[in-house]
Amino acid sequence: MISAIQWSGERLKLLDQTRLPGQIVYLEADTYVQVVQAIKDMRVRGAPLIGIAGAYALAMAARDLRLRDPSAPQQRLHQIANQIVSARPTAANLSRAVERVLAATARAASLLEAEELAVREASLIHTEEEQASLALGCLGAALVPAGATVLTHCNTGSLATAGIGTALGAIREAWRQGRLKRVVVTETRPLLQGARLTAWELAQEGIPVTLIVDSAAGDMMRRGDIHCVMVGADRIAVNGDVANKIGTYTLAVLAAENRVPFYVAAPTSTVDLTIESGEHMPIEMRAPEEVTWLSGVQVAPTGVDAINMAFDVTPARYITAIITDRGVLHPPYGEALKTLLGDAEKPVSSAAYQTTG
Ligand code: MRU
Repeated sequence: MISAIQWSGERLKLLDQTRLPGQIVYLEADTYVQVVQAIKDMRVRGAPLIGIAGAYALAMAARDLRLRDPSAPQQRLHQIANQIVSARPTAANLSRAVERVLAATARAASLLEAEELAVREASLIHTEEEQASLALGCLGAALVPAGATVLTHCNTGSLATAGIGTALGAIREAWRQGRLKRVVVTETRPLLQGARLTAWELAQEGIPVTLIVDSAAGDMMRRGDIHCVMVGADRIAVNGDVANKIGTYTLAVLAAENRVPFYVAAPTSTVDLTIESGEHMPIEMRAPEEVTWLSGVQVAPTGVDAINMAFDVTPARYITAIITDRGVLHPPYGEALKTLLGDAEKPVSSAAYQTTG
């Protein structure tokens, strides 16, 4: 299993996912600005992974402040936190992780102490995410029927997390247990995370994979070729509505129409208890050129109008179960999610951040 993120104690080593599957190239980020740029450019991507990268970025910012501007007020760290979160506004993991690191630094008496506390918190988040993906992978594997063909969307594997992955972690574990026959992967336009990353991860491990164009999923479900759908999530609202890669909603509706179970797998760090429903999810809009160009080739006429929302919202009624590291939830999700996270859980205060969505 490839490691997409490594913290050396001073700098962050990030696998450049824009170069896959052709090349394995690592970026060395020395400053938080470089990490923010890597997140924006999707060199590092996937909700849990950008949470971890964002956490280390804030720790690096505390160090930069100590070295360059030792008299800077704590308020400066808040501004940088906003900057990090707005790099990709949909993933709850990013805002939650940055908020946790910021809260950890609040009791620091100096920038040096703030830096130490920030690094400690970021490392803790890193470890927690690794363990969460292992736990939810085991729980999710149990839902895969023996001999099943599972359809997945985008990339939710070790490239998107610190561990085995979320939906892809469950799929991986089902394969390990001998329950899985094949994985059908949607190519995931516009940036092809399914074709470039998921197909690559599965092929590396010898797991049978079939790549399809996004628009073939419905026909495969109608023919009875898909036994369940498993996807990840970028943000889960209190009522169980889920924001995930654009195209997830389409898959969920098609799954319901064809009576195919539709599972969402995500760590509890993806749940946002401050958002009641999908209506209030911040949805990231990306450059239209990602649609009009494909791998450096212009595929649409110059000047054509294009829209590029990176995520959509799947209403909870289409979701058969939500698989988390702390248990598998069935509808209705509201009370189940609140109970799972407990009263002591500190919610993600997404409203505190300025988003670019
Ligand atoms: O735009 P991306 O590639 O970061 O989108 C990733 C997804 O939508 C994943 O499904 C989600 O982040 C969960 S990753 C474990």
